[in-house]
Amino acid sequence: MGKLIITDHPLIQHKLTIMRKKETSSSDFRSLVTEIATLMGYEVTRDLELQDVEIETPLMKTTGKEISGKKLGIVPILRAGVGMVDGFLSLVPVARVGYIGLYRDPETLKPVTYYNKMPSDVASRTMIVLDPMLATGGSLIEAVNELKATGATSIKAVCILGAPEGVEAFQKAHPDVDLYLAAIDEKLNDHGYILPGLGDAGDRIFGTK
Ligand code: PRP
Ligand code: URA
Repeated sequence: MGKLIITDHPLIQHKLTIMRKKETSSSDFRSLVTEIATLMGYEVTRDLELQDVEIETPLMKTTGKEISGKKLGIVPILRAGVGMVDGFLSLVPVARVGYIGLYRDPETLKPVTYYNKMPSDVASRTMIVLDPMLATGGSLIEAVNELKATGATSIKAVCILGAPEGVEAFQKAHPDVDLYLAAIDEKLNDHGYILPGLGDAGDRIFGTK
């Protein structure tokens, strides 16, 4: 089973509470998504491999550390995952960015894929899928299916808010993928929305409601 990591740093919890409030504006919501993504990115990159490197300071030669091993790619799920891109890129500016376009059919709650553009070398990268919301899990499961079909073998998934139903479904579908979440809420409502949740993340980020 993939690991489930809850990144419940006090700053993340505080920012998430502001995101949940219905009166929080789109511009504040967007900034908070970026800030939380950055803080989560710090945890997600904690296990990056290092190697020794010989360098010279202005005073003497010494041995430093530099990141080695697989390079990173990030894959936001359109639309709301785009809100998390800048946070991750601020930590790893050289990461490549792929996009998966998915929306959840409001009647069936099943994901519908409309776009897939990955870096050419996904097989040699650790690919990090980003989406603020994990509700039924259908979208994230399908995004990882697509990524695996493109050749990715090392994948992590990062969401801000999850429902227990989605976490269980995702871990069952992709037991080889570690899942990072800032919080797990109580349940889904009859329309597949997370309760208490924060509403529709895409609409709140892009001001479309
Ligand atoms: C939201 C969210 C996830 C998905 C989660 O996207 O950003 O992608 O729902 O739900 P699930 O776990 O039940 O699949 P939405 O379908 O609203 O698409 P949009 O933001 O592009 O409009
Ligand atoms: N998508 C969202 O944006 N919010 C939810 O609560 C569920 C799915």
